[in-house]
Amino acid sequence: MQSNTISHSTHDASEDDRNRDIKIYVNGEIVHRDEAKVSVYDSGFMLGDGMWEGMRLYNGKWAFFDEHMDRFFNSCKAVSIDVGMDKAGILDALTRTAAANNMTHDVHCRLMLTRGIKDKPFQHPRLSRSGPTLVIIMEHSKPAVSLQSAGITLATVPQVRGLPMSQDAKFNSHSKLNCVIACLQAEQAGADEGLMLDPHGFVNTTNACNFFIVRRGEVWTSKPDYCMNGVTRQKVIDLCRQNDIPVFEKNYSLYEAYGADEAFLTGTFGAQTPVASIDGKVIGKSGERPMIARIQSLYKSLISENTGSSQP
Ligand SMILES: Cc1ncc(COP(=O)(O)O)c(C=O)c1O
Repeated sequence: MQSNTISHSTHDASEDDRNRDIKIYVNGEIVHRDEAKVSVYDSGFMLGDGMWEGMRLYNGKWAFFDEHMDRFFNSCKAVSIDVGMDKAGILDALTRTAAANNMTHDVHCRLMLTRGIKDKPFQHPRLSRSGPTLVIIMEHSKPAVSLQSAGITLATVPQVRGLPMSQDAKFNSHSKLNCVIACLQAEQAGADEGLMLDPHGFVNTTNACNFFIVRRGEVWTSKPDYCMNGVTRQKVIDLCRQNDIPVFEKNYSLYEAYGADEAFLTGTFGAQTPVASIDGKVIGKSGERPMIARIQSLYKSLISENTGSSQP
């Protein structure tokens, strides 16, 4: 047990009282969060049968919107959920929700689409006939600064990533039970987040973010087979390639992860979050994280370019 430490999550944000009164989009209606409801017959509630995207708004523009929409529409197509609108329709719904909330900057959004309301409380998708349920939650959100200095603690967990022919890890599905179990196991081991292995025992990803290590000037991440095809993961790989930082998608074991000079997580919410320790073993020496700092700076510039924001 790693006791007496302050526990974090990669989704820690500074408290913002304005979030108590946000307005939420539910199938075309925009209502106060206390009034925002979906049916108990909804496929998302009943089965976790739906897909979602997490996105960030800077300077009135959604960062990497096309990439998020590609993943979202692909996922919905793969499980035969008819989105009921195109990319422009989604953008319009997002724009309306942001306007209703008077939000333009430092906003995180969870866009969720389920197969919709079922006629009966059973599994078969044909029981969901009334069209999808679309919900958009937007919150004022800045990742907690303390995460950058303290870093996240990880514990390797027994729950592994699945093979793509069971529930493909690329589905950003409402059902995240595999990840939730991993997170519980990490919490029970006294860590903030779970480090998950692939079915062969190689290091893969955490329960909520993609995972990278830095060794001797090289950046390593797992092969893409068992992890979320994270938008931030791909941006970090692209940035490394464009800036002559050696980057590899490869199999590696805990042996190499424990001995890394630096380690970090990637995700839309927190961008790049340093890892302080894995299974109680401190990562790196003397708390210096020059590669993470370099990648964070490149990523900030990329967000500025993508959103026209001077201050991501
Ligand atoms: C399991 C998992 N890994 C990684 C990510 C990060 O993906 P992205 O960078 O697209 O936010 C997510 C986010 O949805 C996730 O659920």
